[in-house]
Formats: sequence, structure tokens, C-alpha cells
Amino acid sequence: MKKILFAASEGVPFIKTGGLADVVGSLPKCIDKEYFDVRVILPKYTCMKQEMKDKLEYVTHFYMDFNWTDAYVGVLKAEVDGIQYYFIDNEGYFGGFKPYGDNALFEIEKYAFFSKAVLSVLPILDFRPDLIHCHDWQTGLVPVYLKERFQGNDFFRGIKSVITIHNLKFQGKWDPKVVQNITGLPQYYFTPDKLEAYKDANLLKGGIVFADAVTTVSDTYAEEIKTKFYGEGLEGLLKARSGDLRGIVNGIDYEEFNPETDKYIVKPYNAVNFRKEKAKNKRALQEELGLRVDEKKMMIGVVSRLTDQKGFDLIAYVMDELCQDDIQLVVLGTGEERYENMFRHFDWKYSDKVSANIFYSEELSHKIYASCDAFLMPSLFEPCGLSQLMSLRYGTVPIVRETGGLKDTVQPYNEYEGTGTGFSFANYNAHEMLAAVRYAEQIYYDKKREWNKIVDRAMAADFSWEVSAKKYQEMYDWLIGY
Ligand code: ADP
Ligand code: GLC
Repeated sequence: MKKILFAASEGVPFIKTGGLADVVGSLPKCIDKEYFDVRVILPKYTCMKQEMKDKLEYVTHFYMDFNWTDAYVGVLKAEVDGIQYYFIDNEGYFGGFKPYGDNALFEIEKYAFFSKAVLSVLPILDFRPDLIHCHDWQTGLVPVYLKERFQGNDFFRGIKSVITIHNLKFQGKWDPKVVQNITGLPQYYFTPDKLEAYKDANLLKGGIVFADAVTTVSDTYAEEIKTKFYGEGLEGLLKARSGDLRGIVNGIDYEEFNPETDKYIVKPYNAVNFRKEKAKNKRALQEELGLRVDEKKMMIGVVSRLTDQKGFDLIAYVMDELCQDDIQLVVLGTGEERYENMFRHFDWKYSDKVSANIFYSEELSHKIYASCDAFLMPSLFEPCGLSQLMSLRYGTVPIVRETGGLKDTVQPYNEYEGTGTGFSFANYNAHEMLAAVRYAEQIYYDKKREWNKIVDRAMAADFSWEVSAKKYQEMYDWLIGY
């Protein structure tokens, strides 16, 4: 039995800010239990839902040498859906109102602490993984510490590590002297062949340099990040490591996201009866959100972090024009104030057409995936994207920009061949996006049978974890040995 430990800063069902949590919560369940014992370690955030905190069981605590003090490390555990979770507790670090804060230096200290604690706790738990699977910059120091101070110890020698890049934009950067002081790593680690990048210490870079393999969450993004536009300054390193870098597209939890059994939606439906049943959800949502109730209106959904990454400046640019069309737009998201206010403004201006829901809600997100006809996701860059996969699963036709995982998972509609699961456009241009939306409107209103065939194909597409989990397993086997 090969032992794998996932180390990450968020994971469903305990704590979630974005797609990383969905992946960390769903992938381990789909790894073959006959051959792999996969466990997950997360921070114990005070802001976790009480009902989740109630599931945690105290294991032990100890003190760890960190940032010139003996830092408290509490250890808790919980088992969910057959997966063993561990939690690192320290209220000084994980006590905020949100998992991530705005003080960049404190974030670095917090996740350096977490990364070191992840390794320190293993002998105490008597769990020696064959491989630690790290996710994003927050766990970038795990491969570094593993190769450095823990190598002197028999317990750790030979443990492999993988880092998955979910988003290259966030790297965890700060002045090298300060980071050296916090992490206790020797000075010679802070050179351009190791942790340093452009005069900063860079935790993600450390992970990429020291991990035994690097993955990211789609094939296209794996190629894109070797270029200057998408490489966020690390394109050179990623090119150099291209032999150890591969894209494995994300899946979603097909049990959690299932229009037939979804407990949040008014009218369950499936690939056979969606023509009759799906619109009942639309009607209910129109009523709930105070939009004009009309099953025939094309409803477009957005569920997203409201950031530049997701292409909201394109939407802002043509929003007034878009609102002249015969559509409804339902938005659920939080993020940058200018986008939050932009949607609030249009909700006020076109109150029977636009509904801006500026908060986080699992329930409303499911209702939107189920009720809308189309889903808009015009990202500037998108490592994978899960929202379009959820939309496909619910027969809600994605309209996307052809980048990263959006390009790999949404097949553009071709009216001549009768193929495609969605609509797409290539250039980061607001009117190109608008043209794609209008093309979708035209098919929706004028060629309803064609539209329904797109929905058929969307619902038939398979983005469960099955295929991708096998690719992870192959990689684990290859790294650990058979
Ligand atoms: P990213 O990880 O870049 O935010 P993804 O598409 O991979 O993008 O994943 C986003 C996840 O977060 C999806 O599960 C989406 O439904 C969810 N999500 C985003 N914003 C909200 C919100 N305001 N309320 C509920 N769920 C949200
Ligand atoms: C990141 C990316 C998103 C991806 C998610 C899970 O948040 O922005 O594209 O789907 O991670 O891998």
C-alpha cells in the first residue's frame, strides 16, 4: 500500500475559497483505495464552520522550533467519506476571520509554519508517506524543508514530493533576508537557482525547484506557463523543468454536483428530461431573485471570485450593451470592490434583468448551475476552472475564452458539423466576447432544437475524476517505484 499525503491550505468540506478546495476535497476520494492510502493535512482555521469544527478530534500537541520561538503545534483529526484528515492548529496563525489575509508577510510566515509543521508532525502520527502532494505556494516550502533539514533523519529520507500549480499568479514573495530569518533555511538557499526570483524569496519557486515532479491542472495551462504572458516570471524555470512538468485536467465530484440528486435545487432533472424539467428551476430562481418570471428568457449565470483573472473587465466594458439584449444575468461572487459595485449598479439599473448577489453561498451556486441556460466565464487566464465543468454537468452551456482549462474542457459549437458543448472566443476583447454571447443567444432563441443538442452533448461530457485520478496514480507509481 503506497501512502500519499495531500498538504494544502484549503479543502472541501472543511474550508473553501475557490477551486483548490474542490480538488483537495474530491480527488483523494477517487484514488484507488486498494493501492493507495491517501490522507490530507490542512490548517485548522478558526473561521471553519462550527459544524465542521465539531467533527475534529484532538490528537496531540507539541512545540516546534520556528521563527526563533518554540511554536505551539496542535494536531487534530477527522474522517470524512473514508478519507483521514489531519489539521495543524495554532490560533496565532490560523485565527483570522478568513483563511487568507491581506498582510503578505504574515501569510508567508503562516504557511512557512504550516509547511514545517506538516513534516514535523509525521513521526508523531507515525505516518510516513511515500509521497507528499503539495498544492500551490502555501505548501511550496514542504519540498524545500524535505530536501534540507529533514534529510538528516531516517524517517524522512526518500520521501518524494510533487507540487501542483493551481494558480501561478500567487507565489508567496518577500525579501530574502526576512524569509530566511523566518524559515531558518540556510542563506545559500536564497540564490536564483533555488528560492530567489527577481531579488525576492519565492516560496512557489522553492516548491517547483525542489519537488520531484511538477503538475498543473490542464494541458493548455502547462504549455501556457512556459510563455512570458502566462509565466508570471517563472516561465524560464518552468521551461527548464518541462521534462518533469505535466498537465492533468481537474475533475469534479459527480456525486456532489448531480442535477438528479441535488438537494439545493427545486426540480431535479437529468439528461433525458431536462427539456421539460430544467426550466422549472429557472422559474423558481427568477421568483427568488426578483427577476421577471418567464421560462423562455435566456438566463446567463456567473459564479466566481470577482477578480481580473476571470475577465470581469471585459464584462464591465460591454455590460450596458449586453443588458439591451433579451437576456437575464445572475451573478454570484465576491472580490474586488470595483466589480462588486459594477454588478450592484447594473442590478439597480436593470432590476428585472440583472441580479447581483455579492456574497458566498454554496446553495445559490448550485441553483445557478441548475437554472441558467448559459454560463459566462471569459477568463484572462484559467489554470483549469471548475465552474464550467459544473455548468456542463447541469446542462448549462458555457461561454468561455479559449485559455487554459477552458480551452481543454469546452468544445466550441460548430453548426455545420453539429458538434460542441459550448461557445468560445479567442482574443481578450470585450466585443469578441459579446459576439460569442450573441451567437449563443441566436441559437437559443432561433434554433432551440440545436441548442438542446448542445445541452445533450454538454451533459454527456465526462469530467468526473475517473480519468485524471488514474493519471495521478501513474505519476505516484512512477515516482515511488512499483
Ligand atoms: P478559482 O479556483 O480560480 O476560483 P474555479 O472555477 O476552479 O475557480 O473554482 C471556483 C469554485 O468556487 C467553484 O466551485 C465555484 O462554484 C465556487 N465559487 C466561487 N465563488 C463562489 C460564491 N460566491 N459562492 C459559492 N461558490 C463560489
Ligand atoms: C485555481 C485556478 C482554477 C482551478 C483551481 C483548481 O484556483 O484559478 O482555474 O480550477 O485552482 O485547480
